[in-house]
This record gives sequence, C-alpha cells and structure tokens, in this order.
Amino acid sequence: MSAELAFKPRILGMICNWCTYGGADLAGVSRFQYPTYIRLIRVMCSGRVELEHILRAFSNGQDGVFIGGCHLNDCHYNTEGNYDAIRMVLHGKKILEHIGVNPERLRLEWVSAGEGIRFANIMNEFSTKIENLGPLGKSEGIDEKTLKSKLEAVTNLVPYIKLVEMERLRVRFKSDEEYHRFFISEEFNRLFDETVGEKLAISQIISLLREGPQTTGEIAKVLDLTPSEVSRHLNSSSRQGLVRYEEGRKCFALA
Ligand code: FES
Repeated sequence: MSAELAFKPRILGMICNWCTYGGADLAGVSRFQYPTYIRLIRVMCSGRVELEHILRAFSNGQDGVFIGGCHLNDCHYNTEGNYDAIRMVLHGKKILEHIGVNPERLRLEWVSAGEGIRFANIMNEFSTKIENLGPLGKSEGIDEKTLKSKLEAVTNLVPYIKLVEMERLRVRFKSDEEYHRFFISEEFNRLFDETVGEKLAISQIISLLREGPQTTGEIAKVLDLTPSEVSRHLNSSSRQGLVRYEEGRKCFALA
C-alpha cells in the first residue's frame, strides 16, 4: 500500500453535550460505522468552542476539525451559543483561507440527539474529504515551518479577532443559508480586509521576521502576496515602529 493510500488523518470533533454528543452515542449503539481515528471532545455548547481551540488543534497536527451543535433555535442555553458558533466558524474559515489553509478542513454541523445516522454520515463524508486533501499543509503546498508560523500569527491576533466579532460581526439571521450568504458577500469581504485582513498580513510578516531578516520578495513569496502588498504592510509596520529597513543588507528586520 502506498504512503498516500495509508494516510489516516487526525480529526478532532468538539461536540455539544446536549445534541451532537447524543447523536454520536446513538450512532455508536446503533452500530453505524465511521472512522475510529476521529477523536471527540464533549463541550457544553457549540458556542463554547473558540477560534483559539481550532487553531491549537491545527497547530498540534490535526488535519481536520469538526464542530457539532444543536440545530439553530434548539440550543439549550438562553445565550443561543450556536449562533455564536456559526459566526465564529464562518469567520474562522475566511481566516484559514487567508493564510492559505483549505477552509474545508473546518466543518460545522447541527446534529440532534436523535440523528445517529446523520452523525455517522457526516463523519464519513468529512473524513473522506480530509483523507483526499491529505495531511494539513500538503494540499495547500505549505511546508511545516511556514504553516506553524502562519498559525502562530493568527493565534497572536485572537483577542483582536474576538473584538471584531463582538463589535462588527454580531449579525443575526434566521437560517444557515443567510449566514453563508453574508460571509461571502462583498460587505463582509470589505469589512474583513479593513479589520482582520490587514492586521493578519502584518502579524504574519512579524512572525516571519522573527526567524531573521527578509527581503520584500522573500516575504511576498512565502505569504503568497504581491511585492507591492508586502511593501504597503512593511511601510505601515515601519511607521508603527515594528520593523526597520537594514540598508546594508537591503532587507527588513524586526525593530
Ligand atoms: Fe447545543 Fe448550545 S446547547 S449548541
């Protein structure tokens, strides 16, 4: 068997105690099969899962992350955490895409305690997707070191991202479709570029420069940005006193 065929992904599921966990349990007692390499963690509500947990899972070598919650309007808490979960996951997918990680490695689904077969079907479908994508970073063409640096750059921004979510992204819709539509809309893309996009690029540049001075071209290549975009971010970072230009070596370094 080739190494590719033998690939067994590492998949972590964070699932709500009151619904998806019941669905997983029902799948088990009903003997509905799904891959044994999926590891499940029970959380009290899908809204308790934070972007930081997802990033930590990927940083620790998970190839896919699954979040399961109660169907919309069925959350067991007044805070309706599953609405927070859908906003966080769709925003998280955009962030992953921005750093070059395939957003399909992150999946959110609603599964009730009575939907054992649905749980097994989703797990089988998701694991096949991740098996086909291969190890994290492979289908993305990102080497391990760069991936680590990109995930670290996002992790450093988590407090800021949470603030943006609280102040600018507390949108409330009635259905999943409406959320999906909003998170691919022009309005959201503009908001993302203005808030997280710019800061994320700078955070990635800072992470890269921690490893040593780099030229604009080198940074552009690693981050898959154009040299003019990198120059713009470097100028802004330089004005904030974060980086400096080394005239002698013709490259940028941390200030
Ligand atoms: Fe299940 Fe909130 S209790 S998603």
